[in-house]
Amino acid sequence: MSDAALDVVEFLLTASVYSDDRTLDENDLPPSFRRVYWTGSVDDGDDDSDGGGGGRKPAGISRPLSVTNGTAREATSVSQPWEAVSDLMFTERDEFSGTITLAQEGMAEQWFAERVDDERLRENPTLAKHFANHEEYGDQFDVTHEEAREQNRPIQADRVWIDGLLDEYFDEDEDEEMLDLVEVRAPEEVDTSLDELVLTEDQENELDKISKAIEHRDYLSDIGLREIGKLLFVGPPGTGKTSTAQALAQDMDLPFVEVKLSMITSQYLGETAKNVDKTFEVAKRLSPCILFIDEFDFVAKTRSSDEHAALKRAVNTLLKSIDNISLIEDDVLLIGATNHPDQLDDAAWRRFDEIINFPKPDYDMRADILQVITRQMDIEEFDPQLIAEATEGLTGSDLRMVLREAVLEALTEDRTTLTQEDLLHAVEEFEERDTLKNMDMMGGDHDALVAGGDLGKASDGGEPSGHSHDHDHDHGHDHDHDHDHDHDH
Ligand SMILES: Nc1ncnc2c1ncn2[C@@H]1O[C@H](COP(=O)(O)OP(=O)(O)OP(=O)(O)O)[C@@H](O)[C@H]1O
Ligand SMILES: [Mg+2]
Repeated sequence: MSDAALDVVEFLLTASVYSDDRTLDENDLPPSFRRVYWTGSVDDGDDDSDGGGGGRKPAGISRPLSVTNGTAREATSVSQPWEAVSDLMFTERDEFSGTITLAQEGMAEQWFAERVDDERLRENPTLAKHFANHEEYGDQFDVTHEEAREQNRPIQADRVWIDGLLDEYFDEDEDEEMLDLVEVRAPEEVDTSLDELVLTEDQENELDKISKAIEHRDYLSDIGLREIGKLLFVGPPGTGKTSTAQALAQDMDLPFVEVKLSMITSQYLGETAKNVDKTFEVAKRLSPCILFIDEFDFVAKTRSSDEHAALKRAVNTLLKSIDNISLIEDDVLLIGATNHPDQLDDAAWRRFDEIINFPKPDYDMRADILQVITRQMDIEEFDPQLIAEATEGLTGSDLRMVLREAVLEALTEDRTTLTQEDLLHAVEEFEERDTLKNMDMMGGDHDALVAGGDLGKASDGGEPSGHSHDHDHDHGHDHDHDHDHDHDH
């Protein structure tokens, strides 16, 4: 909404109602408002205004909420908040402190009630409650407090909340090493969404199952089902494992905590076991959240060989922590990912209750992925089916790279409209580059699992590698690719 006065009056009313009604908490404030008032951690709870538990708890939001030009600007993005409302008869500004208040709250309510609709009110739980129960305006709105609260993003998903929590856990020297090992993203910072990903039916079913489990975790706990909520994503590079985990976080408004296992070998090895512990602590405190552990095969590697004792200790801590964390009890959904399922030992497998396969996309999926990634592009005579045929063996990430190449090529000719021809050309370029890449890894094994059956390939004749793409542009739909073709573009 572009009405600056309405924005500022909403903020003033919210601050006033919130300050008076102590049953309201931070989840009753829209994220942009509470961001302004949220203060990070305190050492102990002796002056904890919200009576929240004491100890090492974030301080939260203290009442009363005072409004100045500065806070109003931050909350509403109106550049001159006071100018926007100074003409209204019910507003007042204290020259000395700069505080803006509602001199006539009743008039402000009336003014606001005349201008706000249900949809907007539903985005502000504080005012939804106030107006839904209001003796004068109550009948005017078809909005309930519960509904607004449900729709409002929980504070745990706000960046400020996450930062406050991290500050509390890690002092400055520790920060650096922790940041190597773990990265926390607020859902608002994740830019992959589920509708940009093309998933197999199997993947969709599994993800449905898990979001249902999250939704009904109280029930699952009641009936004693606790061994749920540890997923392992298995598949070759670039098949969407990381993106899917992130998109899930965004879809469910959960913070995304990512652990990079290979960082365990960093120079701070001595501290690592402790840091692994802390990472899980953080995840529990951030809960509900998603804890994503990439490169999970790393675990197996360190257990088999005679690695550094400190490294082994760290990995054992990790496995223990995984055992001790639960979706049902701690609200942490654990997702592991690996490109090398063959390297996982039983101890690692055992810890996951669902394994989700991320195969290389088949013909239909490739066509769909091409549709999705070109959504915002202008392409003449675009025929995704034809490109899908020409890109057997390529992953979602490869297809993105092909498109990027085509876009950049066209830009060198000052074109922002692509043609089908550009795309085909980019596919050829990609495959040339791919051939080069594969020369370096003579005989490297390619676990090219392709959706729709056809597990790997048996022989690959005299080719320089076990590379599984075939480069024949004129063959039909997704039949198997166990023939060799000469590369003669
Ligand atoms: N099925 C898919 N649908 C749409 N986009 C995809 C798909 N698979 C991969 N991509 C795109 O490819 C890129 C890389 O994917 P992602 O990083 O999730 O792969 P990954 O499986 O985690 O790979 P790695 O094993 O190397 O970590 C992303 O930009 C993603 O959007
Ligand atoms: Mg990944």
